[in-house]
Amino acid sequence: MREGRLITFEGIDGCGKSTQSEKAADFLRSKRVDVVLTREPGGTKLAERIRSILLENSNYSISYIAELMLYLASRAQHMQEIISPALSSGKWVVSDRFYDSSIAYQGFARGLDPEKVREFSLFVTKGIKPNVTFFIDVSPEIACERISKNGKSLDRLESESIGFFKKIREGYKWLAESEPNRIVEIDGSETIEQVWAQIETVFLDRFPELER
Ligand code: TYD
Repeated sequence: MREGRLITFEGIDGCGKSTQSEKAADFLRSKRVDVVLTREPGGTKLAERIRSILLENSNYSISYIAELMLYLASRAQHMQEIISPALSSGKWVVSDRFYDSSIAYQGFARGLDPEKVREFSLFVTKGIKPNVTFFIDVSPEIACERISKNGKSLDRLESESIGFFKKIREGYKWLAESEPNRIVEIDGSETIEQVWAQIETVFLDRFPELER
């Protein structure tokens, strides 16, 4: 059986990647592709528990290296329980965030060495890389406006400053330049349907077998 495909969505908080990941999964299902929609940090019981440690506004500090290691631990479990088995059985996996988040957030924004973070990430994924990564680019100003409009209280990372999100965005831009074949930059400032139209075009271009 043919190996499945791994498609990931990335961007700063509030860029709209969760909505677009769902649209991608629905689109693939409409093409009769067997899809697993998942997210990071999370996707398994252990990883969801690590997610709550990472995102709750706690009264204790988490060092940047400890933060990275928690994201990596969550990813290791996610790989073993969900992503690797799905890919081996020919399924397509759509993940809302993957290791580029660690490079952009823990590398660029927290100031850990991005190359080191990439190395650790590929150790965790056993060298598996996404077939395509959609980087949904919006300015931190637009993203913050969307987050505050949706009315939910902010998690530990969303409570960071605009400067933090500027660094993350620079990290994603650096990644997109360093791997232009894998990472596709999408203008996320438009409406949901306009953003999806850009993504659908890339899907049909990259995976001609979907054109049925
Ligand atoms: P996300 O699922 O986008 O949060 P929400 O469901 O509230 O939109 O991601 C959770 C946060 O974790 C987000 O701020 C990005 C951050 N993150 C990292 O810092 N490093 C990582 O490796 C991952 C996967 C996420």
